[in-house]
Amino acid sequence: MKKITSLNKAIFPVAGLGTRFLPATRAQPKEMLPVVDKPLIQYAVEEAYAAGIRHMIFVTGRNKRAIEDHFDTAYELENELEMAQKLDLLALVRSVQPSDMDCSYVRQPRSLGLGHAVLCARHLIGQEPFAVLLADDLMVGPPGGLPVLAQMAAQFEVLGQSVLAVQEVPLAHTRRYGIVAADAAGTNLLKVRQIVEKPAPETAPSRMGVAGRYILTPAIFEHIRRQPTGVGGEIQLTDGIAGLLGEESVYALQYQGKRYDCGSKQGFLEATVELALAHPEVGEHFRSYLRSLQVR
Ligand code: UTP
Repeated sequence: MKKITSLNKAIFPVAGLGTRFLPATRAQPKEMLPVVDKPLIQYAVEEAYAAGIRHMIFVTGRNKRAIEDHFDTAYELENELEMAQKLDLLALVRSVQPSDMDCSYVRQPRSLGLGHAVLCARHLIGQEPFAVLLADDLMVGPPGGLPVLAQMAAQFEVLGQSVLAVQEVPLAHTRRYGIVAADAAGTNLLKVRQIVEKPAPETAPSRMGVAGRYILTPAIFEHIRRQPTGVGGEIQLTDGIAGLLGEESVYALQYQGKRYDCGSKQGFLEATVELALAHPEVGEHFRSYLRSLQVR
């Protein structure tokens, strides 16, 4: 696939504890939970690849080895499939790691927060802009349109400044998001004035919540480094972005598409049902099955 942006690196922070999915996440990472037939992390990596990114950087922690294995070459499996002439499956297995994609892994020794996780990858980013994708936000682009990170990358190419993905959230849910106050700057584009992590509905500056996709300039690292611990005793990426606002412009894109909060059971179930309905192999039968349930 042709590269569409100058953006070449993405950070996938996958070192969280995934407590909302215990006991499923006791020994396996939340990001390896499958929606239909693909783990969450693969959806996010494919989205980054579709935006032209070729260097994937995973910030891992304890119990995350399955992610490294998933993106490694699976020699034994490939041999078996080749010998059995199961060529479709062979192509599917190989497509997980395209030959022009590099993966790096860095450890976050303790879950000290998303900002801290991003800071752990600083030495692999250097002075380049980069994307951050939270795999538990599963993003589906509009039918026939660009995936969400590619929409953001297109804006970044024009602006050359940080771009956050935002969506309007219910007022009662502001405590779940970074919330921005922003001014209109173009079609679906806002210029951020202020950003606050998980405000109460009464103090939230707006209902515009940040989804788990960011394109950031490298200036962010110093701002994260200077942050004291924030909400929940964690080093917050949002607080780093608030610092960056004093130095550079930051934009927010009201993306086209749908976000599933797969960090929560409800969102995970919604994604499973909707993606199963759209799945070329199982969609039709699954639709008949759901109809037969006559749910009340
Ligand atoms: P979450 O707070 O949603 O993830 O962080 P969590 O801590 O894994 O899940 P719960 O709340 O206990 O169920 C958002 C993303 O940031 C990563 C997580 O892996 C997740 O992808 N993260 C969070 C880190 O990599 N390190 C951290 O210290 C915190």
